[in-house]
Amino acid sequence: MKKKILVIGSINYDLVVFTPRHPAPGETIIGSRFQTFPGGKGANQAVAAARLGGNVQIIGNIGQDGFGEELLENLCINQVDTTCIKRVNDSSGTALITVNADGQNSIVVVPGANATLGKEDIEGLRDTIQSAAVLVVQLEIPLEVVTQAIDIAYTAGLIILLNPAPAMSLPQETLQKVTYLIPNESELALLSGLPTDDLEGCRRAAQVLLSKGCNQIVLTRGDQGAFVFNQTGEIFVPSFKVPVVDTTAAGDAFIGGLAAALADGIDLQIALLRASAAGALAVTKAGAQTSLPDITELDDFLKKHKQEVKTH
Ligand code: RIB
Repeated sequence: MKKKILVIGSINYDLVVFTPRHPAPGETIIGSRFQTFPGGKGANQAVAAARLGGNVQIIGNIGQDGFGEELLENLCINQVDTTCIKRVNDSSGTALITVNADGQNSIVVVPGANATLGKEDIEGLRDTIQSAAVLVVQLEIPLEVVTQAIDIAYTAGLIILLNPAPAMSLPQETLQKVTYLIPNESELALLSGLPTDDLEGCRRAAQVLLSKGCNQIVLTRGDQGAFVFNQTGEIFVPSFKVPVVDTTAAGDAFIGGLAAALADGIDLQIALLRASAAGALAVTKAGAQTSLPDITELDDFLKKHKQEVKTH
């Protein structure tokens, strides 16, 4: 049996409009198409890891509504263990997403059932957390749930991946317990209090977090590649050049890919390459979970696109 990846996070129903451009405040524009997709950062990262061969379980709440039915069914189809999902008397989480002609998105999340996940739920699932090898968390569920799960996982010796999205400030003791903190540039800026407009700014911001006791910061910079900053130096993973259709869930594909590789004991540099390839493949298709690659697609892509990781 493969080592378990436990994702604790949001499960959303994505309502997506594709438009030539994002509307300005007060402006009405005509969109080209409307579609719905299963989404939510937690569920996306769980499905991403499962499609890449991970043994994945998710803890999260969904509503007793039609959206919840579909979301649950989709997780099951993707071989994610859903036995710890609770159906609550609330609406399922929704995300209102606008994607422009360049594939860039803006997202408003209404947490709904995701916000009802409580510390008592996590306490009741202590054994489930302790039996995993990797914990993956994000910030679309209450912060106190995230910090409590990290406390339990840290004491049990799990590898902990925290995607600080949407961005918010975090307790220092939580940051110190995380094995890999995985922000994008705007999240890194908020956490460090420094601008991250260019690479030098990102380096300075990462140093602030390292000086506060963060272990490893994996910065995702979209088509500018990914960087790992740690106490021994820097690792750079260039991005794969692909046609961009929709960037939604590219970061989630990266994180799921990283989790799957780390759970399999794969060396960090190779794990980063696999994560980067998963992120690249995700931008070539529309939607969140609909865009996540399976292991055959990922391996074929990596055979065709040689890429090198640089360390210094
Ligand atoms: O990261 C992309 C996700 O963010 C979407 O699927 C949406 O649900 C929001 O959670």
